[in-house]
Amino acid sequence: MRIHIFTLFPEMFQGPLDHSILGRAAAGGLLDLSLHNIRDHADGPHRSVDDYPYGGGPGMVMKPEPLFAAVESVLGSTSPGFPVVLLTPQGRQFTQAEAQRLATEPTVALICGHYQGVDERIRRHLATEELSIGDYVLTGGELAAMVVVDAVARLLPGVLGSAEAAAADSYATGLLQHPHYTRPAQFRGWSVPEILLSGNHEQIARWRREQSLRHTRERRPDLLQSAPLSEEERRLLNTPDQLTRDPSSTD
Ligand SMILES: C[S@@+](CC[C@H](N)C(=O)[O-])C[C@H]1O[C@@H](n2cnc3c(N)ncnc32)[C@H](O)[C@@H]1O
Repeated sequence: MRIHIFTLFPEMFQGPLDHSILGRAAAGGLLDLSLHNIRDHADGPHRSVDDYPYGGGPGMVMKPEPLFAAVESVLGSTSPGFPVVLLTPQGRQFTQAEAQRLATEPTVALICGHYQGVDERIRRHLATEELSIGDYVLTGGELAAMVVVDAVARLLPGVLGSAEAAAADSYATGLLQHPHYTRPAQFRGWSVPEILLSGNHEQIARWRREQSLRHTRERRPDLLQSAPLSEEERRLLNTPDQLTRDPSSTD
């Protein structure tokens, strides 16, 4: 998959995306990140990329010309036929479902804003969609773009050691995932649940599913409305204390 990133600060991407799973994905040719510096497309002696807002008020606004020129020099001036995403706190919420959707695209472009944001004509006539990584305001779109790249890249075939792992993650199943334990079986007096040491795969799978339901009911009950659940699971959820407790939990 190729991801074009349009930014005023390409150096911010060096480091976070070069290591671990994403670093290996790039080295293995599964992920091709192309960073484009918007300032390279600005005219004038100062290569200015921002200007005062019409109508007055605080802060600066990213000018349309450099961003249009940067995007069109790479993607062409006609609609590229793939998502050109403006990162903005005003966008649709970026979710696991959005990550799954973007992971099916061979190419995606991400536009990082800065300052007070981008000139409205960029939003209307250059971006094909807008995504927000949450209800808070960052100083720039770079961290948001990294979040999107990370969440999308780990879904690409071959990037994770096991595709099964991503399919069982929180949100991918419609629920939060069950708790995980590793060695030692005893740590500071807290034990790993007996069932996980039993070797009984059927019972372990049932226990994990119940923990997943319990976690979701406790932390994100809103997800249960649309989660794909059996009749039996809905009954268990609606009956107090029907789901097995994790003995090491203080919930
Ligand atoms: C300081 S913010 C601008 C916020 C804008 N004045 C507003 O109130 O909607 C600068 C840039 O950071 C990025 N940004 C900030 N928060 C974001 C979020 N939650 N999700 C995605 N991008 C975000 C966007 O690219 C935005 O153009």
